[in-house]
Amino acid sequence: MKIAVLPGDGIGPEIVAEAVKVLETLDLSFDMETAPVGGAAYEAAGHPLPESTLKLAKSSDAILFGAVGDWKYDTLDRPLRPEQAILGLRKEMGLFANFRPAICYEQLVGASSLKPELIAGLDILIIRELTGDIYFGQPRGRRTASDGHFPGAEEAFDTMRYSKPEIERIAHVAFQAAQKRGKKVTSVDKANVLETFQFWKDVVTEVHKQYPDVTLEHMYVDNAAMQLVKAPKKFDVVVTGNMFGDILSDEASMLTGSIGMLPSASLNDQKQGLYEPSHGSAPDIAGQGIANPLATILSAAMMLRFSLDQAAAADRIEDAVKSVLAQGLRTPDIFAGEEGTTKVGTREMGDAVVKAMS
Ligand code: IPM
Ligand code: MG
Repeated sequence: MKIAVLPGDGIGPEIVAEAVKVLETLDLSFDMETAPVGGAAYEAAGHPLPESTLKLAKSSDAILFGAVGDWKYDTLDRPLRPEQAILGLRKEMGLFANFRPAICYEQLVGASSLKPELIAGLDILIIRELTGDIYFGQPRGRRTASDGHFPGAEEAFDTMRYSKPEIERIAHVAFQAAQKRGKKVTSVDKANVLETFQFWKDVVTEVHKQYPDVTLEHMYVDNAAMQLVKAPKKFDVVVTGNMFGDILSDEASMLTGSIGMLPSASLNDQKQGLYEPSHGSAPDIAGQGIANPLATILSAAMMLRFSLDQAAAADRIEDAVKSVLAQGLRTPDIFAGEEGTTKVGTREMGDAVVKAMS
């Protein structure tokens, strides 16, 4: 079981260290190799995704990823910015299926900005297509407008596009995931305006015929954004394109009170996967030892389950996380001062998970 460990920028190294510690507690033998990525790789090797890092990632069964990005790199040319590392890994490795669960842990109901009754017991799974759509569609660029409202003016453009096989394979992923859960899929589109998403809706509807045990509903993205805060528990599996999925998954994560709790997985068709916390690099709190490592620890659990066939080990980690929450341990992002809770730092939280595993 070969794991590429890519800590990245900001709080990335601190939280990944805790997840590695947790993995080392298991009685399994991993071959873990660390490589630079993002801004850290730009500093070390002049590129956010050096050839050697990409090679390591491709030759591994799974990638444990921290986070990339820092404001100080925002003025670099786009191909050199840290974000290109994650986009490059997704593209180069064909990681088209992105799983972003939004689970509200019982003990953290009070940390959400929504009323407790709306989110208690929340368990939804956003499945975002990750290698197509306007993120990767060509052509894109800047040019002089030849038509439109201001012919002759400077303009920029991107291309939204999806091919039938791209939609079919993510639809299969979503229906199969739903079969193992609440048996309902909400496909989010903008078919009332966009050609690409009318096509999306048509193809998802066709694939659905193979899954008569799953209920399919279609929802426009603006309505989905509204329903997510109005009645989030009505969702089970949500499947959508790359850009809508980017936006809705951030929204869904906040329903649970803390983005610091949410793992994610990005898989290709060979079960190779990249596992990362749903939150970003948080450069504002980097190096202070206060970041929540639980999303990364839970990402390691997802890695064991999806790419390494070690479901029992994944259960052990997930149970340990529930147990530390039950003990009242809280990093600052999930600390609400409730009775019986204690504020802890990154390392103490990781240590507590390790302890709870034994
Ligand atoms: C995400 C992030 C990325 C995205 C950025 C960092 C390129 O927001 O994983 O959701 O837009 O996909
Ligand atoms: Mg995002």
